[in-house]
Amino acid sequence: MDKIVIEGGKSLHGEIRISGAKNAALPLITATLLSPGWHTLHNVPDLRDTRTMLALLESLGVVWERQGDTLRINSDKLAGYEASYNLVKTMRASVLVLGPLLARMGRARVSLPGGCAIGARPIDFHIKGLEKLGVNLTLEQGYVDAQVKERMEGNTIYFDIPSVTGTENMLMAAVVAKGTTVIKNAAREPEIGNLVDMLVSMGARIEGKDSDKLIVHGVEELKPAEIAIIPDRIETGTFLVAVGATGGELTLTNCNPAHLPSLFEKLRAVGLDIEAQDDAIRVASNGSIRSVDVKTMPYPGYPTDLQAQIMALMALGNGLSVIVETIFENRFMHVAELRRMGADIRIDGHSAIISGKERLYGAQVMATDLRASASLVIAGLAAEGKTEISRVYHLDRGYDDLANKLSNVGARIWREKE
Ligand code: UD1
Repeated sequence: MDKIVIEGGKSLHGEIRISGAKNAALPLITATLLSPGWHTLHNVPDLRDTRTMLALLESLGVVWERQGDTLRINSDKLAGYEASYNLVKTMRASVLVLGPLLARMGRARVSLPGGCAIGARPIDFHIKGLEKLGVNLTLEQGYVDAQVKERMEGNTIYFDIPSVTGTENMLMAAVVAKGTTVIKNAAREPEIGNLVDMLVSMGARIEGKDSDKLIVHGVEELKPAEIAIIPDRIETGTFLVAVGATGGELTLTNCNPAHLPSLFEKLRAVGLDIEAQDDAIRVASNGSIRSVDVKTMPYPGYPTDLQAQIMALMALGNGLSVIVETIFENRFMHVAELRRMGADIRIDGHSAIISGKERLYGAQVMATDLRASASLVIAGLAAEGKTEISRVYHLDRGYDDLANKLSNVGARIWREKE
């Protein structure tokens, strides 16, 4: 197993090319199950999670080939309909095969995800939504067994809380259902817009893209797609926050500045200079880190997937900062590790109260989940001395080549065998 070693204190200078978004690649890969023929996906990041998703599809009879960041996927010989516990326990997003398998085969058996490091994270919205479309679901031995008699039937689905993968599963089921489905209080994350574009290019009829009300008129047949994965806004945001912590200036290319409205506002309040162009961002720091308050919210609010990273920055702020996590319970696993590096952070329910320090110190720390690991990297880059981060497989789930990208812009960061 690898660990990441960082010698902190270097500012970042140069250019980084942003990879395709993990959270768009995963649903778009599963959407290829919806129709036979060769699908082509461009700008696909090479991550542990995208590999896991391809392994899951392979176990269903799918074949694929990868050339650079282009993936070609074919599900002509679909043979199975089960996502086993072994896969789902390593990646919750495996649940995204539920909608497309029901649409294509009328049958799906998917393991329940169970608990994970950032809370209980149930899939009851997925189950209730599919039931509304006429799917017969039973729960047995830790699996959801789902079956449709003939064809799913359109209906109105209302989410109590906007769910990202829930909305995606409903879309992929509803596109071939009989009649019209209306998804109310739908999530509006840009990755869902990417999926809508793919489905429409396959012949689906969907209105309301990027809004909280999606209207899907079912069609009988879909055709294969060719589409590019949107840039990863969380990777982009992670580098922007890193510049705040280390100082310096970076140009991020192949990204979409329009997808980070709330982060830009926060980082400008912190004191960063951010200039957005069409598909690039230039960020520069003058060294000051003003403490700001942050509350995570569904898109376009501040993303929960960038909460841990900005906490590392606030640990170096000039005053007090309150960070409220409203999306997931138990998403403060990074706090104990940041404290080991000298951060002054107190947890009170869903809030973290951070009293900024002039300096953090390198330490041996442990990655606990994907975004928590990114916050430890940021803290390590800014800290005095050496930081060693173990369990970096969490980081590999969602960051494409992170250590190399950072070392190319001046960071002293490398991987070592543990
Ligand atoms: C997706 C993202 C993840 C991100 C999260 C929130 C992917 C692959 N993952 O996860 O990176 O952190 O959105 O932006 O896109 N909920 C229920 N019942 C359900 C579904 C969700 O109660 O059936 C709750 C969750 O516990 C959470 C909230 O709804 O409190 C939102 O979760 P959701 O948007 O579903 O997260 P994911 O789609 O799993």
